[in-house]
Amino acid sequence: MPIAIAANGNLIQMSDRFDVPGLSPRLAARMAEIEPFHVVELVTRAQALEASGRRVINMVVGEPDFPTPAPIVEAAMRALRDNRLRYTPALGIAPLRQAISDWYQERQVVDVPSTRIGVTTGSSAALLLTMGVLLNPGDEVLMADPGYPCNRHFVRAMEGRALGIPVGADTAYQLTADLIEQHWTARTVAVLVASPSNPTGTLIAPEELRRIHDVVRARGARLIVDEIYQGLTYGVDARTVLAVAEDVFVINSFSKYFCMTGWRLGWLVAPGAYIPAVEKLAQNLFISSPDLSQQAALAAFHPDTLKEAERNRQAFEAQRDYLLTAVRKLGFEVPVTPQGAFYLYANASALTPDSHHFCLDLLARAGVAITPGLDFGQHRCAEHVRFSYPKPIPVLEEGVARIEKYLASR
Ligand SMILES: Cc1ncc(COP(=O)(O)O)c(C=O)c1O
Repeated sequence: MPIAIAANGNLIQMSDRFDVPGLSPRLAARMAEIEPFHVVELVTRAQALEASGRRVINMVVGEPDFPTPAPIVEAAMRALRDNRLRYTPALGIAPLRQAISDWYQERQVVDVPSTRIGVTTGSSAALLLTMGVLLNPGDEVLMADPGYPCNRHFVRAMEGRALGIPVGADTAYQLTADLIEQHWTARTVAVLVASPSNPTGTLIAPEELRRIHDVVRARGARLIVDEIYQGLTYGVDARTVLAVAEDVFVINSFSKYFCMTGWRLGWLVAPGAYIPAVEKLAQNLFISSPDLSQQAALAAFHPDTLKEAERNRQAFEAQRDYLLTAVRKLGFEVPVTPQGAFYLYANASALTPDSHHFCLDLLARAGVAITPGLDFGQHRCAEHVRFSYPKPIPVLEEGVARIEKYLASR
């Protein structure tokens, strides 16, 4: 059965009955610009290797290896037993919106009224809704290249144009206020940043974020900040942009910090004036996020859940420390120590002129799957690869040992 890959690197099996005799597809023009993940080919091969009995070390998937914390699962089981799952209000059940608001107050000492919070089907829906309420056809959104690959497709799906700005180690792979000013065009209506970022795990310093906000606001555009990895930082505390600005769109999710990728639940904080538009669009596109996941997520802020989330965070930090040292020893260059998320974005140019080919060969010969830079943009993509490290250290050790052997044998 053919296999595609979702945003986070997971597999989706697709029906192989694509062909209807006599029906040639007449696809919308936008579909030519919405790309699948290049890593699909690699993951398909990894699956085939595993099916043939070979163990593959998978450092492609962008999700925690830990299960969802027990209090969340128990809350879900209670909700299932009550058997009263229904559509909910489009922006989520009131207690969950309030719990998220309280979470901002407790964790960040920031007052975010629950009326500005919309619960969404993963942060993916939050990103799509944001683009939907902001963009007219041809409007431009500035974003970093490399960046999370779906972002440009959310923009395209809503008829906008994504402009990837090349970023490198000199700015910790992040946009800066200066870069934004340099690349601004008459069509720019929004700027999207992620801190910590996927694929680089790097953060934007609070002063720079404030400057970025000033530049964007001065031009009458909107700043969108993806804070999905915010709880996952190491040795540094990431403050929400909401601490310095109210007129921003903030994207967040239960997927990563709360280990709930499969529950498809996230949230959006929007400036109050946009909420009726967000609500109207959410009603029409989704009706509501899954009631079951919302009931379950009410337990996400329970002290026992938070203890587990913190233990997980510490484990990710140890995994990062191990893998960062190990890949640097192997000859990959990671010039900026990632302080968040669970990715290493490594320059492999000392080892290969073509990271895509390198990833395919590494998989075929060593059974290790990592993502080629091509999946995250165009800028120097052939030099880079991404390691996703939320795995037990012994698994990472085996991956490293295999890469070492592979490099020595070439
Ligand atoms: C930066 C970033 N934003 C958004 C998402 C979407 O996540 P979800 O829809 O599970 O909340 C991801 C997933 O990997 C991501 O890395």
